[in-house]
Amino acid sequence: MRSFAGRSILSLKDFERHEFERVFEVADKLAPIAHNRKNIDMLKEKTMVTAFYQPSTRTRLAHESAMLRLGGKVTGFADAKMTRAGDFYMESIKDTFKMLENYGDVIVMRHFQKGAPHEAAKWVSIPIINGGDGWGEHPTQILTDLYTIQSEKGRIDGLKWVAVGDMRMRTMHSLGHALTQFDCPITFIAPKEMSLPDEYREDFKRGSLNFTEGDDVRKVIADADVILVEPVVQPDYTKSRDERDGDVGLTPPEFKITKELLETKAKSDAVLLHSLPRMDEIPPDVDQTRWARYWQEGFNGVVMRMALLALVLGEME
Ligand code: CP
Repeated sequence: MRSFAGRSILSLKDFERHEFERVFEVADKLAPIAHNRKNIDMLKEKTMVTAFYQPSTRTRLAHESAMLRLGGKVTGFADAKMTRAGDFYMESIKDTFKMLENYGDVIVMRHFQKGAPHEAAKWVSIPIINGGDGWGEHPTQILTDLYTIQSEKGRIDGLKWVAVGDMRMRTMHSLGHALTQFDCPITFIAPKEMSLPDEYREDFKRGSLNFTEGDDVRKVIADADVILVEPVVQPDYTKSRDERDGDVGLTPPEFKITKELLETKAKSDAVLLHSLPRMDEIPPDVDQTRWARYWQEGFNGVVMRMALLALVLGEME
């Protein structure tokens, strides 16, 4: 197996099955630390830099929490406007990251341009973790989601997935790449104007992913073991910031998971995932149902980042 030590986590396209399994094993080992709300000193000599050019609640803070749980230090920025990358100078990725590599041992980056983390990784000698790049990928989120399924169901192979939402979303691309390594048929449900970009459709075919595309979750939910939802009422992920402006509309019923739909059509033991934030595609009365696992995903998001940091910083092999 390729070593994780010193390796950037940019995409799940290059992840092999045994590498997923190794990350899940390490996450299982480290999970008790987070469960018990303890901190250890595994990474006490290491510093993580966060470079976030787009807003984030979960991805940045879960990485920071993970680093702190393992005894490491954290520095960085949550808004590029407060740096030279976001003001008059519009400092380039190269110039910014040639500096950031001096400030820590691993960099977690979110950017509004697809491929920006790959560009950054060309210029530095320390690992870059992609925390979401435009309409590109979001590898650590999907590692978290697969780990949640592994923890909840005891397996990943043999489960049928339905993914609902905007297929331009980076999570959907990482999900398709990841499931090429498992025996998991998946149906992608999206409005026509938000269907899978050709580039990813071709990637998934090349990866032998068993996938179909549809336009109404109500037609397919009965077969699903895992239902992964993202909004269709979305900001533009290619912008650094996209604040809500007036009425943004409601989610049509074809892309919405209601309590009634779950009660009348879903498998009794199906698992409902949402990486959050949400609009109205999962109403709050679903939160207390047995299907909802998104709060568990939130916890697992810290555990998964602990595993990735321990691996790429070479503290676990
Ligand atoms: N799931 C996710 O990426 O959330 P944030 O945008 O809050 O990081």
